[in-house]
Amino acid sequence: MTAVTPLEPHSTAAELTIRDVIEGHTAGQLIVTADDWGWWTVALAGDTITPTTGVEATVADALERAGFLIRQGSHYHLTHSGHDIAKNRGFVRGVVRGWEPTFRQLSGNAHRNSVPALTDPGAVARSCTDIARRRPEIFASIGQTIAADTPGTTIDLGCADSGRVQALAGIATKEQFIGVDIEDGVIADATAEVARLGLSDRITLLPGSVQPEPELPAWLAEVDRDAVTTAMTFFLLHQLASDGDGITSVLRGWMRWFPNVRRLVVGDGYLLAAPRWTAQPWFSPTYEIYHAVTGVRLWTQQEYEQAYADLGWSVVRSMEDHKMLVTTILERG
Ligand SMILES: C[S@@+](CC[C@H](N)C(=O)[O-])C[C@H]1O[C@@H](n2cnc3c(N)ncnc32)[C@H](O)[C@@H]1O
Repeated sequence: MTAVTPLEPHSTAAELTIRDVIEGHTAGQLIVTADDWGWWTVALAGDTITPTTGVEATVADALERAGFLIRQGSHYHLTHSGHDIAKNRGFVRGVVRGWEPTFRQLSGNAHRNSVPALTDPGAVARSCTDIARRRPEIFASIGQTIAADTPGTTIDLGCADSGRVQALAGIATKEQFIGVDIEDGVIADATAEVARLGLSDRITLLPGSVQPEPELPAWLAEVDRDAVTTAMTFFLLHQLASDGDGITSVLRGWMRWFPNVRRLVVGDGYLLAAPRWTAQPWFSPTYEIYHAVTGVRLWTQQEYEQAYADLGWSVVRSMEDHKMLVTTILERG
């Protein structure tokens, strides 16, 4: 018999198992469900969860068996890994609900090189805001930087549900804010929320595309372009750069729209490729695979930095909120 060379222990450990796949799928559904019921917010605030119906009891029991909750009598509270799940639940929602329609359509599209992104826009918007909320100190840093400067107008390009704008308006209290997003429904809901919060005099939300084109977009006519001093964009630049003509070209287009912009804030995911999923930080393989199937390019840190340098922007601060999700504050220098 030919001797079989055993695999290195670390190489077998670096594979997903059938158990990871099946139980991970169910756990993802239950994590989003519990979030829709507000359980993670309650538990992170230090309160206990008390199921009152059969469905709630079954979900709580499943989350306990998954290791995320501990039961004490009729109450549940977070374990260490439950705390991690609660803090990072936006990633779970984004993949389980936001991106599921894209992955689902792969089955019927083997003959294509890529499929169009087909998302649940509300789920994507909420997941992005939840991801951002897990690092409030990054908001604080952006908000304090804006607040320390002469008051102006900050625009968020691809603002989704305006969660980031709302948070920043609470820190930079003299600044005016504009948010623009291509999803009309998301903008309509966010506008109602801004009004409910009494922030309509400081936050203006507009539907439209922020992809620079030869023609100026219609929404720009509603904006005092000269007043814009800070332009922000979170988790969209890679897509615009991919659909358009690269990072430099998109940033140059925005600089043309807003001639007095003196600060850029760019949050985006960097490309960190590795042959095995488990060789990358969690979420990086999913992010990379989602973008590969939709034909949207991801860009390396060097490519972002080269574009900034080419246009005369200097990095003031760079903040990681995940190995690959990086927020950079830049000023013209
Ligand atoms: C990944 S989400 C990021 C949302 C938000 N910036 C954040 O980080 O919380 C991308 C957002 O960009 C919006 N979007 C996509 N293409 C756009 C375009 N051409 N113009 C404006 N918004 C766009 C989507 O509707 C979505 O809300």
